[in-house]
This record gives sequence, C-alpha cells and structure tokens, in this order.
Amino acid sequence: MNKRVLGFSLALLVAALAQAEPPAAGSAGIEIRDYPWQAPTGEKSEALESRGNRKRGARLYALCRGCHLPSAGGRPDGSIPQIAGQHDSVLIKQMADIRAGLRDNPTMFPFAAVMSDPQELADLAAYLEGLCIPVDHGRYEGEDAARQVANGRALYDKECRACHGASGEGSRHRLYPVIAGQHYKYLLRQMTEIRDGRRRNANPAMVAIISQYSDEQLLAISAYQASLSMPGKMCKATAPSR
Ligand code: HEC
Ligand code: HEC
Repeated sequence: MNKRVLGFSLALLVAALAQAEPPAAGSAGIEIRDYPWQAPTGEKSEALESRGNRKRGARLYALCRGCHLPSAGGRPDGSIPQIAGQHDSVLIKQMADIRAGLRDNPTMFPFAAVMSDPQELADLAAYLEGLCIPVDHGRYEGEDAARQVANGRALYDKECRACHGASGEGSRHRLYPVIAGQHYKYLLRQMTEIRDGRRRNANPAMVAIISQYSDEQLLAISAYQASLSMPGKMCKATAPSR
C-alpha cells in the first residue's frame, strides 16, 4: 500500500464522515438461516439486523475506492477482490471479521477499523450489494483453459454447487458468497489459504472438502468459477451511477 493512496483515502474518509447523517429509523434486517458454524454476535449481528442506507454507503465508499476501485470490481491480478453485487450479509460478515481480527487483512485493516458503528457496515453493504458485477474480470488464460474449466466444472458440480449455486450466486441467508465475476487469481489464492488453514474465518464444512484438493484441482476449480456468470446481475459499466 503506498503512502499517497493511503493519504488520499484518509482525506476522502474525513470528507465522508463530515457528511454523516443519523441512521434511518426502523430496521429491515437480514434473516440468517442454517448458520450453526459461527453464530453472529456483537457488531456483526447488530449490522445484520440494521437496514442499510445506500446513499450513506455510497459516501462511506470513498474510504474503499482507492483499492477496490469506483466500480468495486477490484483488480484482475487478484490482489484486490471484486465486491460489487456481493450479498450484503457476506459483506457484513467479512468486514466484521476483518475488524475483529478473525480474518487477517493487514492491507485493509486500518480502513476497516475507522468505521464507527455497525450501521456503517450495513450502509456500505447495502450500497455494494446494489452495484452490478463487472463482466470484465480476471479469468484463467492458460492454453489449456478449456480442459481446466471442464475439469473444474466436474469438481464444482459434485462438491461446491450445493452451497455456491449453479451460477455462482451463493446464498444471502446462509452467508455463502457470490463467486460469479470474481477474479481467477483471487479465487485461487483464497482457496489455497482456506485449504491451508490461513483464512481462519472459513466455513468448516467447506474446509473439510477443500482440504482434500491438490494444487492442480484448485487451479481447475478456480478456472471454472471465474467462468461463471449470473444472468441479469452483470454489466459492462466501469463506474456505477448513483
Ligand atoms: C488498502 C486497500 C484496501 C482498502 C482501502 C479496502 N480494502 Fe477491502 N480488501 C483489500 C484486500 C487486499 C482484500 C483481500 C485480502 C485477502 O486476500 O484476504 C480485501 C477484502 C475485502 C473484502 C472481502 C471480500 C471477499 O470476497 O472475501 C471485503 C468485503 C472488503 N474488502 C470490503 C472493503 C470495504 C467496504 C472497504 C472500505 C471500508 C475496503 N474493503 C477498503 C484491500 C482494501
Ligand atoms: C457447506 C457449504 C459450502 C461448500 C460445500 C463449499 N463452500 Fe465455499 N464457502 C462457503 C462459505 C460459507 C464461505 C464464506 C466463508 C467465510 O465466511 O469466510 C465460502 C467461501 C468460499 C470462497 C471464498 C470467496 C470469497 O469471496 O472470498 C471460495 C473461493 C469458495 N468458497 C469456493 C468453494 C469451492 C471451490 C467449493 C467446493 C470444493 C466450496 N467452496 C464448497 C460455503 C461452502
């Protein structure tokens, strides 16, 4: 992370906070089902119960834009994930886990740490969930792509599809992430970290499956996942309209 981007993002943060408004009354909340492996508590459950405000989320996003980009599509080199159109529940869980030190992310931690209350997590999640998923993302580009994607598909259909969905749509209520539109290199890195126990907030049921996979199988399955697309949720746009 270079100092210039950091300084710039902090200046935007100050501007965003200066415009903060009190939270909207009432709460719609996100109902979480079948989630026995890590019952949400504290700020995470408060944020899940709050109704997010997209306008406030859009302003708070000034804090994130320098890394995740205006489209929220991240970087094809896999260093920064695509987060546009992700389920609000998943965004809240990941942000809260990063803030609480349950998922290591030293690059983003200082930015996640400045949010002052659970309502801000809900606002950001509502804003990001409403963005379309950019179609132009990093895919596997090896010469053997067709073979890798086919092998990955066979594995995915057998062991991953039940949770992550036929189009990579995941589940909002069960906290399964959207995978469609995610960068190949990011997927490969996350799955390797989940398999090797370095992403500590992962779902144990998934860890049990993925711990059996070889590097070659992870490559194939990442290639397949990066080829998935969710009809109606994807777009060409590079920057969102407000
Ligand atoms: C300094 C760069 C940086 C900034 C600023 C930043 N992030 Fe991140 N973010 C990252 C990186 C890097 C990762 C992936 C870390 C990893 O590989 O585990 C990440 C991961 C995430 C994830 C998890 C995505 C997933 O698929 O699991 C979410 C959600 C997220 N960021 C949201 C935000 C939000 C919201 C903000 C603004 C409050 C923000 N980030 C600001 C760098 C940043
Ligand atoms: C029992 C349901 C379940 C199964 C089966 C499962 N996953 Fe997951 N997966 C999850 C959950 C839940 C998360 C989010 C974990 C967290 O909160 O950090 C996740 C996270 C991921 C991520 C990280 C996404 C991101 O945005 O950071 C990838 C990649 C992934 N799964 C791929 C797979 C693959 C490939 C398989 C099959 C080998 C699989 N999963 C099987 C539930 C499942």
